[in-house]
Amino acid sequence: MSESRGAAAEAGVGRRTLLKGGLLGGAGALTLAGGVASGTSAGQASTTVGGAGSAGSVSGILPTGDAPSPVGHLVEPFHGAHQAGIATVPQSHAVFVALDLDEGVGVTELGRLMRVWTDDIARLASGRAPVTDQEPELAARPAGLTVTVGWGAGLFGRLGTEHLRPRWLAPLPPLPIDDLDGRFGEADLLLQIGAHSPVTLAHARRHLVGAARGIASPRWLQPGFREPMERDGWSLRNQFGQVDGTVQPDVDGVDAGLLWIDAHGQPAWEGGSSLVLRRIRMDLAGWERADRVAREHAVGRDLATGAPLTGGEVATPVDLHAVLPGGLPVVDRDAHARRAGPHAPHQRFLRRPYTYEEVSADGTVETGLLFAAYQADPLRQFLPVQRRLAEADLLNLWTTPVGSAVFALLPGCPEGGWLGQHLLA
Ligand code: HEM
Repeated sequence: MSESRGAAAEAGVGRRTLLKGGLLGGAGALTLAGGVASGTSAGQASTTVGGAGSAGSVSGILPTGDAPSPVGHLVEPFHGAHQAGIATVPQSHAVFVALDLDEGVGVTELGRLMRVWTDDIARLASGRAPVTDQEPELAARPAGLTVTVGWGAGLFGRLGTEHLRPRWLAPLPPLPIDDLDGRFGEADLLLQIGAHSPVTLAHARRHLVGAARGIASPRWLQPGFREPMERDGWSLRNQFGQVDGTVQPDVDGVDAGLLWIDAHGQPAWEGGSSLVLRRIRMDLAGWERADRVAREHAVGRDLATGAPLTGGEVATPVDLHAVLPGGLPVVDRDAHARRAGPHAPHQRFLRRPYTYEEVSADGTVETGLLFAAYQADPLRQFLPVQRRLAEADLLNLWTTPVGSAVFALLPGCPEGGWLGQHLLA
């Protein structure tokens, strides 16, 4: 059964998150809190867990007069068995950038890009500027930056490496609720960038997209936001006002196998994962016409607290068997919580939703959810749930998927290694 991730989030800061030069860095914290430099070509400072004291080693340009920020110096370790940004407590800002390989690009060029991105991401995540960074000052505050790299299904056909494609990596089958406009569909490459600072995020995005020039070009870009570290850090309040993201598998514990690809099948993908990114438009005007009772029954949870209508607190499991005195179920037959809940233990995945707003020049705003689901095998875990919701879900009255894409997220890499190495080398 799913459970809340409240304890895992530990006061909103991810278990693996380090405060650069702070929590682990001892004396370095004083220097760093006043604003520190990025090392433009300094050696790799270790920011892995246990790298006490090393994070404060910086050189280069010292920004002056920059106001200290409470989250500016948070560091998410980059190296490891898994990429950061998946089991990481979601940062308050994110952008999903999809790119397509340029004409004529082959395995060699992709390998070159992966090596460059690996080095750049490792530096940016630890508050150091990439070698070719033209604005190194902007790298000084990593703000919990994570960059997660994914490959889309089309990449393998283009490179002639179909044998490396995970068997589940394909677009989702057509769903009756979908109204996909083609703008936010499949692509060859994904950069998922998250940070607690929009400034850090913008700089990282610009640099990494620029570093791909000549090899891959952007296809779409989807920015999202959420309240920083709200509640347990995992749930956000979406624009319907709901607490969203509460029920999650315990991916740091017993449910790790639901998130990470294991060694069976394709060993080169071991430690990787997958992302299903659904762009879901939310009809706020329609939602505002519904009364509070209807809104709460659409999910089966109290709007104010997020607690189930069957009682308890936000972390209390919904009692799907509870009935009213007349015998009717407390939680509607088509309530989102009933339809989305697992019908088998493996039908679960990690959710890291973000709100999006698409603002037009004429002032019209489209609002929705960047529904980001992570799992070892989307066909087995995600698709049955999505199919059930597409058949019936009260939330469908106010929501419409307008974009959909699936990516394989690369395994992590150790220091000295690079992302995708086992697949390309
Ligand atoms: C705009 C679209 C959506 C909104 C506003 C929304 C909102 C919510 C809310 C408020 C909850 C209850 C609290 C929680 O556990 O997080 C929830 C639960 C859940 N949602 Fe969604 N959701 C949306 C789309 C989806 C989609 C597309 C899927 C999967 C295909 C999904 C899967 C789930 C799951 C698995 C749960 C936990 C169910 C349980 O075991 O209790 N949701 N959602």
